Amino acid sequence: MQVIVNTNENINGTLILPLWQDSKNMADGSGAGVHRSLKNQIENILANGDFKAKAGTAMTLAGTEGGKALLVGLGKQEDATLQSMRESGAKVTASRGKIHGRTLTVKFHGVDGSHMGAFIEGMIIRDYSYDKYKSKDEDDDSDDGEITVHVTCEADKTDDLQKSANLSSAVATGVYLARDLGNAPPNDLYPMEFARQAIEFGKEYENVEVKVINYEEAKTLGMGGLVGVGMGSYRKPCMVIMELNGDKPGPSPIIVGKGITFDTGGISLKPPPSMDEMKYDMHGSATTFGVMKALAASGHKERVIGLTCMAENMPSSNAQRPGDVITTYSGKTVEVLNTDAEGRLVLSDGLWYAGTHLNPSYMIDLATLTGACVVALGHEATGLWSNDDELLNKIKVAGEHCGEIAWPMPLFKAFEKEMTDSKIADVRNLGAGRYGGSNTAAAFLKQFVPNMEGTEKQIPWAHMDIAGTAWGAKSNKMVKTGATGIHVRTLHHLITGL
Ligand code: BES
Ligand code: ZN
Ligand code: ZN
Repeated sequence: MQVIVNTNENINGTLILPLWQDSKNMADGSGAGVHRSLKNQIENILANGDFKAKAGTAMTLAGTEGGKALLVGLGKQEDATLQSMRESGAKVTASRGKIHGRTLTVKFHGVDGSHMGAFIEGMIIRDYSYDKYKSKDEDDDSDDGEITVHVTCEADKTDDLQKSANLSSAVATGVYLARDLGNAPPNDLYPMEFARQAIEFGKEYENVEVKVINYEEAKTLGMGGLVGVGMGSYRKPCMVIMELNGDKPGPSPIIVGKGITFDTGGISLKPPPSMDEMKYDMHGSATTFGVMKALAASGHKERVIGLTCMAENMPSSNAQRPGDVITTYSGKTVEVLNTDAEGRLVLSDGLWYAGTHLNPSYMIDLATLTGACVVALGHEATGLWSNDDELLNKIKVAGEHCGEIAWPMPLFKAFEKEMTDSKIADVRNLGAGRYGGSNTAAAFLKQFVPNMEGTEKQIPWAHMDIAGTAWGAKSNKMVKTGATGIHVRTLHHLITGL
């Protein structure tokens, strides 16, 4: 989607008219450039109350002599939030369809700058579909191809709005990438294929360096968590490290992603229903890659690292077993009681490597870690745990700002105790009972956060369980279906402040 902001009065293509709830007429000045018969029709509709402009509604006007229009409800002005504006923008993209074609003109009047920016952002973020595996119908007179959006508003607001739209477009490339990776079928997206795409990304931007720790190297380094999970698959595991602006001094933020390209459960095999959805079990890594892309595309100047732990969790004669004891990269041993609790195993090596080798200011991991998190929060929020209240709060605020809610969850000592009372190893990968499963998983991860050098204090770390938000959230208006690209925007905003 290309967005051009100006003060031009011409209407290109379909007129998109955002309206506050219960508007009885078009805002003063917003009729400029609109053909008289279309204008009359709109004025009639509004005067009669035929379109109430409630939030989340839209009305198509076609077949008038004066061109086509889409009226979009913004809801009540006093209730408007960044998120309600984004959702109204998303509604435009969702209802555009063939009637309205690929050229649109949005006319804003009496909408403040940040709200207009959010509306355009919503239009952009919703403009995504995953068609890579659909055959193209030759006779299709389809409307695909880039959408061009002309935007007009008050003259003194155009420069800021164009800047905001450009930033949204740059960040959106990261959101789209995360969705593409999440949606990719697991036969085509396996650990080393993810690594290959990361290496390509490194070639695209001169300030991005990519390093891949392959299976042989992971074994040599003693990454028992990553190796244990990945060894049962023909597609071997790897760790991918993407560094932006490595020449800038650290310490810097590190994002760590769970990247299980398919989670069968391993020997603790999952039941068949919805097992296909476990292709999304790499969305933590997809978000990590997406954030790096968003940062690179938006010209971020500071050092940031994304590290992804890639593996395919398969049952085979070469797979790890329930009962195995593995030695992780940290040196801590883990009793593997359930091979389906694999995300925490690969992350244990990722967190320890990041904390000891990459000089973090803080570390944030993202993982589709537990079904229990979906039980707790549904699809409405990501679970958020942290050993540092300030970091937790910053993430929560960034999530709220972006309309991607991350909700605080507890790291009680009792959960840590539960996970460290294995009969034969340092840590167990399964809680003692089935309750509090997302909390015990977080408590497990905490065991693999190193201390800050020369101190007894852990590196500030947060864990985000995106099991409920990575896909399947019907209330998420920013995406039609499939992978959501969740938290690319949150983390871009957290890191850049933009
Ligand atoms: N990838 C799953 C978690 C998951 C399940 C995410 C459903 C999204 C939807 C994870 O690897 C897993 O299987 N976790 C187990 C942990 C249990 C064995 C302690 C779970 O949640 O059941
Ligand atoms: Zn699993
Ligand atoms: Zn998993």
